[in-house]
Amino acid sequence: MDFKEELWGEIRPTGRSAEECFEDLGISLEFLKGKKILDIGSGLNQFAQDLKQEHLDLTSIDMFYALTPEERKKVFSELSPENFETVKTSLDRMAIKDKDSHLVGGRAESLPFLDETFDVVLAEYSMPHYAENRESMRDFFFEVARVLKPGGEAHIYPMRIRPGRNVTRKDAEEVLSNLRNLGFSVEVSGKELGDDPPDTRPLLLVLGKPQIPPDRGGQPS
Ligand SMILES: C[S@@+](CC[C@H](N)C(=O)[O-])C[C@H]1O[C@@H](n2cnc3c(N)ncnc32)[C@H](O)[C@@H]1O
Repeated sequence: MDFKEELWGEIRPTGRSAEECFEDLGISLEFLKGKKILDIGSGLNQFAQDLKQEHLDLTSIDMFYALTPEERKKVFSELSPENFETVKTSLDRMAIKDKDSHLVGGRAESLPFLDETFDVVLAEYSMPHYAENRESMRDFFFEVARVLKPGGEAHIYPMRIRPGRNVTRKDAEEVLSNLRNLGFSVEVSGKELGDDPPDTRPLLLVLGKPQIPPDRGGQPS
């Protein structure tokens, strides 16, 4: 079984509401208005659907959108009949031409966007929650940092390292420390789920890209 199949067997796209995402990610509609937004690991894209009337400039990316129909079937083969109906309705909605947002098929570790494209990057229950190793987590963070515009912000929830993965909290701290050295602000605030062991506490991470990169010697470009 290749890596992709293994991952899909375990991770199925979900569709959290915009309300839930706002609370988890510490953002509001007002915060998003007028900004160029990327939602990484958007799953069933309920977030974009709920905000459709707001006409936000929103791009949603998920590995799932790049799957072949056969691979999709495999992902959902273990769902119960009632869940299957819900998911099928969402999939059908995503397939229609009048899309809720720009849908892009791709991986978080290798974002198909130019440098400094987005004001806001969101990741709700996608990465690094599911990072399978240190490299993928590091690539995820540096890709997020790359596509953010100067002064932009990434909101990532939960900042949780899953037990059993080949990646530790220390690895995450190392990556964040590298980003701090590049001038990024890194704020972590706690919103805990009571039953998690301490090492896997979900936390909200807000990453802020500096307005002026340190290598420009503090001079505006
Ligand atoms: C649990 S769902 C979350 C979906 C949505 N954000 C929500 O909160 O309902 C996780 C999503 O992340 C996507 N995902 C996981 N790892 C990814 C990666 N490396 N690159 C792109 N998408 C990824 C999965 O395909 C899945 O749709």
